[in-house]
Amino acid sequence: MINSLRGFRDILPPESTLFAAVEAAAREVFALYGYQELRIPTLEKKELYVKSTGDTTDIVEKEMYAFTDGGGREVANRPEGTPGMVRAYIEHNLGQTGRNAKFFFIGNMFRAERPQAGRYREFEQIDAEYIGNPTPAADAETISMLIKLLGKLGVEGCSVELNSLGCAECRKNYRATLLEYLRARRERLCEPCQGRIERNPLRALDCKIDGPWLSAEAPKLQLCPACAEHFSATQRLLGAAGVKYNVNPNLVRGLDYYSRTVFEVRSTMLGSQDAVAGGGRYDDLVKSMGGPAAPAIGWGLGVDRLVMLLKDKPAPDTAAKTFVIAASKEAGDKAFELMTALRAAGISSDFSSFELSLRSQMRSADKSGASFALIIGEDELKAGTAAVKPLKEPGEQVIVPLQEAPARIKALLEKK
Ligand code: HAM
Repeated sequence: MINSLRGFRDILPPESTLFAAVEAAAREVFALYGYQELRIPTLEKKELYVKSTGDTTDIVEKEMYAFTDGGGREVANRPEGTPGMVRAYIEHNLGQTGRNAKFFFIGNMFRAERPQAGRYREFEQIDAEYIGNPTPAADAETISMLIKLLGKLGVEGCSVELNSLGCAECRKNYRATLLEYLRARRERLCEPCQGRIERNPLRALDCKIDGPWLSAEAPKLQLCPACAEHFSATQRLLGAAGVKYNVNPNLVRGLDYYSRTVFEVRSTMLGSQDAVAGGGRYDDLVKSMGGPAAPAIGWGLGVDRLVMLLKDKPAPDTAAKTFVIAASKEAGDKAFELMTALRAAGISSDFSSFELSLRSQMRSADKSGASFALIIGEDELKAGTAAVKPLKEPGEQVIVPLQEAPARIKALLEKK
């Protein structure tokens, strides 16, 4: 027996139906906001993530499924969607189509983190990226679209944490101040932070060990007038869109490309892995990856975590509506034709094995979740009919001509 890898899961029914429901709701919401689907590869050059996600991030330093392939190429399974989306935007000149570059992507990501509830090594993300709009309206639209999706799914009790990391200029001054502060307290920092503060001091604020005391004690980022105006306009528009949020100056996010607005949607129902979604602006990334100067904003939503919040909601019923039973081999051929006719009429249909006893087939029908059993016994075979037996509600068995069966079943299902 070979088991699955730790941190890699099978998503079984009915949970799988919740994943599909989330994806379907996301597609509807994306259409409402003018987003188009962009599908990107699972495997990319490793350097794509080193350059964009950032070589001082946990994702790139410790968590990538990176390897050298048979041809000696350094590759990595995508740990997040944004770098691939930006690469595709640049590679295919998607800024020049004349349409808004608003793209979504639904797919699995890979991070070699320590598995726990809500944290997996392969997980699904819904990713939204809006490239080319620098204005606060894009920030407010992107965040309110995320809230719209959560609302559509009936998710309650989430908070929106909002912060601004300022532009490169704001951070240049702040970086120097913070670095000086951290250097003076080097011995209080955890080992990884001691190693990374010289390369990226802001990362210490995001550290699980040092973040809490630093956020209380360390100097705070001061926004330049343009960034301050952008942040307050974003808040004003979010308010106008009816989105409630908390300004959280400790929110840093664990990826290197962010500037200005960053946000996270958190739920207290999720334990320690409480971020359902996170995102922010990345105004310099496209240019730094060799593309045009195209300010952008986006988010990634963890579908596995969202589904944890939906578990108490009834899962969609995926059972076939009809279950077909036959008393003999000959009746079995007719039953097979009947299933074809039912499906052609849009009625879902299932069976067990026409070679089993009637009793055994009936037991399977009872367990199947179907609304009606359609039985072709010896008498029905001779008469060209089927017996229709209600399975979910008490009711008389009726005999219907085989040819009329799909229409009659349809009428019965509509009456329910
Ligand atoms: P992220 O915060 O790294 O952002 O991930 C987004 C979401 O993916 C998280 O809020 C969480 O729900 C989910 N997630 C992350 N790691 C795991 C895991 N190991 N197991 C289960 N779920 C997980 C990004 O990935 C950015 N690319 C988002 C973005 C898009 N920013 C701008 N555009």
